[in-house]
Amino acid sequence: MKVDVLLGLQWGDEGKGKIVDVLTPDYEIVARFQGGPNAGHTLEFEGKKYVLRSVPSGIFQGNKINIIGNGVVLDPALFKAEIEALESSGHDLTKRLLVSKKAHLILPTHRLLDACYEAAKGDSKIGTTGKGIGPTYTDKVSRNGLRVGDILHNFDEKYNIAKSKHLRILGQYGFDTSALADIEEEWFAGIAKLKEFTFIDSEHYINSAVKQGRKILAEGAQGTMLDIDFGSYPFVTSSNTISAGACTGLGIAPKSVGEVYGIFKAYCTRVGSGPFPTELFDETGDQLRKLGFEFGSVTGRPRRCGWIDLVALRYAIMVDGVSQLIMMKSDVLDTFDAIKACVAYEINGQKVTDFPFEIDDSIKPVYVEMKGWQTDMTKMLGEDQFPKEFSDYIAFLEKELGVPISIVSLGPDRAQTIIRK
Ligand code: GDP
Ligand code: IMO
Ligand code: MG
Repeated sequence: MKVDVLLGLQWGDEGKGKIVDVLTPDYEIVARFQGGPNAGHTLEFEGKKYVLRSVPSGIFQGNKINIIGNGVVLDPALFKAEIEALESSGHDLTKRLLVSKKAHLILPTHRLLDACYEAAKGDSKIGTTGKGIGPTYTDKVSRNGLRVGDILHNFDEKYNIAKSKHLRILGQYGFDTSALADIEEEWFAGIAKLKEFTFIDSEHYINSAVKQGRKILAEGAQGTMLDIDFGSYPFVTSSNTISAGACTGLGIAPKSVGEVYGIFKAYCTRVGSGPFPTELFDETGDQLRKLGFEFGSVTGRPRRCGWIDLVALRYAIMVDGVSQLIMMKSDVLDTFDAIKACVAYEINGQKVTDFPFEIDDSIKPVYVEMKGWQTDMTKMLGEDQFPKEFSDYIAFLEKELGVPISIVSLGPDRAQTIIRK
């Protein structure tokens, strides 16, 4: 059996958590392959709402195994808070959540370094989530990181070596480290909590599950346009969010990848700094933010909003090898009388359809305008109930993107989901 991969195609927050939860009944194992608590994956069902950061979104549908893969970076303090919130709502995960020994640890000083580097960037700051993601991946690549498996042997010694290196760097920047003792106390309590879970060699576990024919879903975080290699660099996150990231983040071979589900919103959002060609600064942008409730689930920051960008989406579909598309938040457009889609960029008077190296303010989006459906779709149960204008919008997108849209989401709840084929 192959590993199916589910990932975001835009700048994150496409609705990955909701759809992983919807698809989980078809799988035996759900595994996160990259990112860390910079993610906020929201799930809603039976009148309750949960936001997951490090825990995979397959934990609410029966007794499925969930794995935090080697490609993930884990903050024990935030992990503890997340687990305790789940425990207090009746979800005990100790038997069902396995953690890769090779996942890297976000240290308290990584969080400080994240803030320090952002401050040092001045006006060109990235607008990170402040969770220490960049410095942790930097230490991984520069071979200075600590991994979950390190907790088991001589941990204090390894921790102190890493911490003193970080303090030297922070000292050079003159960064205030007075909060460190308090953060460390919480963090070590998190280490104790983490030890309640089973640490595994997840690459062995997953590959033997593949051999046994068990169905596995790999859950991505962030989105393709935030990928470290292919996103809008340097305004990106520090991991490979693309489908290839599932191979390095779980230890599976490319030939083991099956379906690649690509998720996008019927419009577009972005949090933090960086280019966003279709961003709207007008009332329409405000409407999208209000109706889509576009505020960050981790930081609460208002998300920047704009029309769907098919240039960026085609690019994401290409680098991810998407085999099925999933369109989210279509209901947010229910009241609009006209809907726009960017089909090309105009750069120096030339029409460009391939996503360019440089994205700056000189890019003008070329739009196609369509009639809105002006119908409340949130209670619809099947595609036979879709208004004609919405069916036309789906057909238009499928033609432009060259991949079928197999799921359409019409609201945040698990039940508000239409499976098309
Ligand atoms: P993720 O990071 O990709 O999992 O997405 P987030 O959870 O950060 O953001 C998606 C937001 O949209 C959450 O608040 C979801 O509850 C909500 N949501 C998901 N699907 C839909 C939908 O089809 N319609 C509406 N209105 N909201 C949705
Ligand atoms: P999910 O999984 C949206 C953005 C940050 C910032 C940039 C780098 O919920 O879709 P980082 O803290 O990763 O170093 O920040 O990436 N970012 C996200 N934006 N959704 C996310 O995750 C994000 N994770 C990081 O806002 O611009
Ligand atoms: Mg999110």
